[in-house]
Amino acid sequence: MSNEEQISLFDVTPTAAASSPVATPVGFDPDLIPTSAKVPIPTGTYDSMAKMAEHCNRCHRCDLGAYRTNAVIGRGNLKAPILLVGEGPGQTEDETGLPFTGKSGQLLEKILASVNLTTENDVFISNIVKCRPPENRVPTTDEANACSGYLKEQIRMVDPKIILLTGATAMKNLVGIKQGITKVRGQWIEQDGRFYMPIFHPAYLLRNQSRDKGGPKWLMWQDIQAVKAKLDELRS
Ligand code: URA
Repeated sequence: MSNEEQISLFDVTPTAAASSPVATPVGFDPDLIPTSAKVPIPTGTYDSMAKMAEHCNRCHRCDLGAYRTNAVIGRGNLKAPILLVGEGPGQTEDETGLPFTGKSGQLLEKILASVNLTTENDVFISNIVKCRPPENRVPTTDEANACSGYLKEQIRMVDPKIILLTGATAMKNLVGIKQGITKVRGQWIEQDGRFYMPIFHPAYLLRNQSRDKGGPKWLMWQDIQAVKAKLDELRS
């Protein structure tokens, strides 16, 4: 073997896996992801929300796939500093393919606007599960687990500094807190370099209209102001 040939044995040709941020398992076929919850969703699987949406729209990792009209992936700024996580799509969302477009969504927009936050600039909205649970029931743990890899990929792609957990389902499935939302709402939880805050779900505020000091709407007003203050602090 010539010197030239010997030295060429040390050449390193970067492969797709070696040059991507996280190496994909050998023999892994990403097209199997939407078909079985036993196939994990490795970190770094998606390089765009559109590609992920394509998988979600033919996903049968849990039974919710059998009922959907549209998978509901998210809306808002794809590079927003705040990610807001709801529970799961309702009827309007299933029809439109967009999260929080029904009555809860209208209230949510008002809450964000009260401190000058918009989905154009500051917020990306998603859910724990991407398909509507029948009768708007709470998603089961198995359904949330089957879908969790998609949300983790969204968190990685958007890379928000702040994550707002609207309601107990988001709180339980994303940070593992099983306490009641009234106990922990408004508190910052620092995890993996991000600031998480549990807040009331807008649907809860629609059912509890009181504006009394200490009531749900008043508490939400305190919380959203704290979120804005944290965002301003992180931006300064
Ligand atoms: N409630 C949610 O939690 N998410 C939606 O997208 C709509 C209503």
